[in-house]
Amino acid sequence: LPLRFDAVAPLRAQVAHWRAQGARIVLVPTMGALHAGHLALMEEASRLGERVIASIFVNPTQFGPNEDFSRYPRDLARDLELLGQARVDAAYAPSAEAMYPEGFSTSLQVAGLSEGLCGAFRPGHFSGVATVVTKLLNQVGPDVALFGEKDFQQLQVIRRAVRDLELGVEIRGVPTLREADGLALSSRNRYLDEDERARAPRLHAVLRDVAEGLRRGEAATPLVAEGRAALEHAGFAPVQYLEVRDAETLQPVERVERPARVLAAAYLGRTRLIDNVAVG
Ligand code: PAJ
Repeated sequence: LPLRFDAVAPLRAQVAHWRAQGARIVLVPTMGALHAGHLALMEEASRLGERVIASIFVNPTQFGPNEDFSRYPRDLARDLELLGQARVDAAYAPSAEAMYPEGFSTSLQVAGLSEGLCGAFRPGHFSGVATVVTKLLNQVGPDVALFGEKDFQQLQVIRRAVRDLELGVEIRGVPTLREADGLALSSRNRYLDEDERARAPRLHAVLRDVAEGLRRGEAATPLVAEGRAALEHAGFAPVQYLEVRDAETLQPVERVERPARVLAAAYLGRTRLIDNVAVG
């Protein structure tokens, strides 16, 4: 099992000890309910540094009032077991009271990047993410922190915040790990019933079709309209967005000339799924 910390002071002492030995420290922030996608981040972390720390914290401030905070899956014992198998050195699992003590009043706003896509449907979400990630980075003090491309807008928001505040940590993205049928691994996939699980891979298939059309030189608007209809036909309701954006600025793109992303969010029953693919 990894070393386990729930308080900052002993964690920082451990990090200082490792750093004095010359180790590069890599942090992988998570909300637990770990799956193979998370473990791919842990593996990449082991390649990048000598010591790997995973944080596990289901951050209340990034969930909206009608979202799944209370039913979000939690299984710390199993997560620690998986982290041990992945040879993660330490798990940092603070309590909500420790992260947000009485009187906590600060929040971080990353304008622009936080506003469209998921930000339009989850007000306050990226502020919650940026605030908690900044706090985790400050608590742990890693050399590198890893985030999945699965949450592409989150990755860009975090890159921006780290650059703007000069947090002095390298942010790296890791490609999305998928099931054999294309479905992106997610802690929320366990909410899907059998019928929904069978339909879910259509999300990735549609994103790929749109990306393929863009690569052939077609314009985004008709491709996206067709893709949206295909998702609705497959039973996704509502389709919150299906869009083509610049990979760096997340500004809308009509024809692809620089690296872009096709991104979508849609519900299958009560479960909200997101995914994205690269173009160019
Ligand atoms: P969580 O959803 O637990 O995801 C933790 C990390 O794993 C994120 O960087 C996410 O992008 C990555 N990840 C999830 N599924 C993946 C997959 N199929 N392939 C590759 N990477 C994947 O994202 C969060 O937690 C939180 O918002 C957090 C950053 C921890 C802040 O609370």
